Amino acid sequence: VTFPYALSGSALRIRPSPIRELFAMTRRPGMISFAGGWPDPAIFPVAEFAEGVEVLSRLGPEVLQYGATEGYAPLVEELCRWLTPRLGRTPAPAELVVTTGSQQVVDLLGRVLIDPGDVVVVEAPTYPGALHTLRNLGARFAVVPCDGGGMPVDRLAEVLERCRSEQGRPPKLIYTIVNFANPSGACLAADRRPAVLDLARRHGVPVLEDDPYGELRFRGEALPSLYSLAGGEGVVWAGSFSKVLAPGVRVAWAVGEAEIIRSVVLVKQGVDLCTSVVSQALTAEYCRRGHLERHLGKIRAHYAAKAAAMSAALAATLPPGRAAWQDPDGGFFFWLRLPECDSRVLFRRAVERGVAFLPGAAFFPDPAETVGAPVDGAPFARLCFTFATPDEIVEGCRRLAAALS
Ligand SMILES: Cc1ncc(COP(=O)(O)O)c(C=O)c1O
Repeated sequence: VTFPYALSGSALRIRPSPIRELFAMTRRPGMISFAGGWPDPAIFPVAEFAEGVEVLSRLGPEVLQYGATEGYAPLVEELCRWLTPRLGRTPAPAELVVTTGSQQVVDLLGRVLIDPGDVVVVEAPTYPGALHTLRNLGARFAVVPCDGGGMPVDRLAEVLERCRSEQGRPPKLIYTIVNFANPSGACLAADRRPAVLDLARRHGVPVLEDDPYGELRFRGEALPSLYSLAGGEGVVWAGSFSKVLAPGVRVAWAVGEAEIIRSVVLVKQGVDLCTSVVSQALTAEYCRRGHLERHLGKIRAHYAAKAAAMSAALAATLPPGRAAWQDPDGGFFFWLRLPECDSRVLFRRAVERGVAFLPGAAFFPDPAETVGAPVDGAPFARLCFTFATPDEIVEGCRRLAAALS
């Protein structure tokens, strides 16, 4: 039976997420999954989080009520304090909005900035969830092919110039994942950060700095956020509790200039009125009790060990010359370059052998929605190292190597 009513242009544009489709296969019994970008549930701070449930007895009537769209005040306070070192200043409450996941930041800011047909500059490769959301809004994508240091400044300059000359106006937004990017694991190099901001400023393009992985550095020195380098001007910085605490809380935030945050808040009013106050209150309690910093230390060490296990297993098993990668210093991912390989074909073979990953094509916009030259995702694969156990990592890499040979 076909649905007999006319759908909106945006509903007609929506395609099922290729990732969600692949997940069905990764759920088979015995399958080792490097596919989802999932934290390790074995290390969720269940007992510490549960302590906060006491807030329901203490403040139940307030916590069970509708809340402010801007966010639950005690959580906003905790966030403003905790974020100060990374942002280089303490944001005023009017410069921050709590959101339902950082996925919602992309959506809300997209709605504030994007009209159908507008161009967004993205890294190639980039986070498919952002492509999906921005695509729903009718965005087209200008891609900056990245290397181990993120966006090369000259390539970004070319893309911005080309947009201006071909579209007659600059792009509407630069979307960048500056730390341990999904999927590449790369960090935007320190010397590129001010240069990227300088280009954005000169072309009059705002930047969305999406940073859910920045706290998960287990090697090397933290790099300054674009937000801090810009003194807060022209940059919206998004963070999330999903990777550092638990994605089930669905609590994230955006920080930016008060005017743009005000617009985001107005759009959010029409989307969900407010993020779950219960969830925000439990998260605020967790932070107030000092658990977050302790937990961060624990997960950094935990994920460092898993990344080392995957690095060693890949080096020991993959046929020489058939795969190249750069070991990540944090985050969740290994990004393999597989010369002369179509990772979709490899995916099917790997799944037959009981290991799943994500083929590269998911991380690049389609040619039809790309402004300028598209990038072919076929010779790439993303492996998530945080979800599988160390034994599964070793066995999964062995199965992957068998599929690759
Ligand atoms: C770069 C990036 N941004 C945003 C998200 C969405 O995270 P959440 O909505 O759970 O905060 C993810 C999740 O994988 C991500 O990798």
